[in-house]
Amino acid sequence: MPLTFLWMDGRGPGRRQEERPARWSAPENDKALAPLPNRSRNTLTLPPGAVLMPAFPFPPDFIFGCAAASYQIEGAHDADGKGPSIWDAFCRRPGAILNGDSGDTACDHYHRWEQDLDMIAALGLDAYRFSVAWPRILPEGTGRVNEAGLDFYERLVDGMLARGIKPVLTLYHWDLPLALEEKHGGWRSRVTAEAFAEYARLVAERLGDRVPYWTTFNEMPVFAELGYRAGIHAPGLKLDEKGVRTVIHNILLAHGLGVQALRAALPAQSKIGVVHNPWACVPFVENDACIKAARQRWEYRNSWYLDPMFKGSYPGGQIEELGAAMPEIRDGDMRAIHQPLDFLGLNIYSSQAVVEEDGTERAYEKDFPSTDMGWHITPDVLYWALRFAHDLYAPPELLITENGCAFDGQVNAEGRVEDYARLEYMRGYLRGVQRAVSEGLPAKGYFAWSILDNFEWSFGYARRFGIVHVNFETQQRTLKESAKWYSHVAKNRGM
Ligand code: FCB
Repeated sequence: MPLTFLWMDGRGPGRRQEERPARWSAPENDKALAPLPNRSRNTLTLPPGAVLMPAFPFPPDFIFGCAAASYQIEGAHDADGKGPSIWDAFCRRPGAILNGDSGDTACDHYHRWEQDLDMIAALGLDAYRFSVAWPRILPEGTGRVNEAGLDFYERLVDGMLARGIKPVLTLYHWDLPLALEEKHGGWRSRVTAEAFAEYARLVAERLGDRVPYWTTFNEMPVFAELGYRAGIHAPGLKLDEKGVRTVIHNILLAHGLGVQALRAALPAQSKIGVVHNPWACVPFVENDACIKAARQRWEYRNSWYLDPMFKGSYPGGQIEELGAAMPEIRDGDMRAIHQPLDFLGLNIYSSQAVVEEDGTERAYEKDFPSTDMGWHITPDVLYWALRFAHDLYAPPELLITENGCAFDGQVNAEGRVEDYARLEYMRGYLRGVQRAVSEGLPAKGYFAWSILDNFEWSFGYARRFGIVHVNFETQQRTLKESAKWYSHVAKNRGM
């Protein structure tokens, strides 16, 4: 049964809601953010040089970024000494990927990165969240270093800095070196956790002076559950409950060892965090009882991952529920996993439930508006996830590290991709972030998933998430209308 424990029933302990900090407001005397004058008389007389204040403003240092991941865009799967990853192998398994697609070429970003960075810079985006392919750096997962792999990411990072783009680096976005899977059982083994720390150190030593944001893992629940329980992501295994919990424990351990390695190698001002994809919900109505109930459901369903990292223990009640399926925990493991973090990244596409006052989770009906993935369009979810994450774990910073939608837009006769559904999706979700910011929550950035249409895992190229269209035959990039709109939002610091 896929995703069992993400959707498991039961309740966790509640928590008192912390006091909300003061509202953010535009700096005084900032002419660029002048309020609309003479609104009552319905006339428009702006002071010279003034620009209308956006209805939904963001602070000047808010990060408007875009995101992608190595296997989904790079291609060049065997170039310059790269070793194979579990995804290279999984894609060759008949029937694993829709249409038999693979990331062999993908967006050919490995060769076209300069053009892609030019595009990000021209859009006026502040940051680019990318991931490093571990098998480019360590082709066998550990031991022999492939300098050409480190050189590639060095060029990429320097290219970002030269264009004024902040690099936001993810160490693991699912492309484990195949050798670690074949020799040691991948995340079934603690050897992989130790290998991860070695890999983290290597990348930090090479790029540490230039990358401000570091994340260990992208979405632990997805690659653990889909890769090791449901068998629909690499490495395609169907383990039992204890097996999956062991995988999760090893990944958490790798995170902790990785953070320690990063702290030892990075300059003090570097920010280190992790990216989680929370099970997310919204309260049925905005009263105290519903909000409290929704927060309890949120906590219950995310605490298996977040409690160890932020509190140093698995949630007690759920340990009991698991019984004999509890993984082996060695002395010192929980201490290693519990490392201070500078930020928590949240990847959120949809809300999974509407929660009533008594904690009942209501599912969305089938014909509720949704994207090509069948994921429901629920813009308020970003606000509630930021608020609950803050209430429950209070990381110093929160980032929306992924948000976006799959809609199949093609280039029309005028050369345009009129993806207004995506534009409206982003507008709605960004309002949720703006609400969080305006209430003083430490939401510091938003990253559109994705800069490019790309290889969407088991769906191959059949789902398009990009704000930029990619013709996979010619590798031609075309800005979609959503990209032009998002560029405007980023440049104007608001909507
Ligand atoms: C997230 C993944 C990302 C992409 C989006 C659509 O789960 O992190 O790689 O596939 O979903």
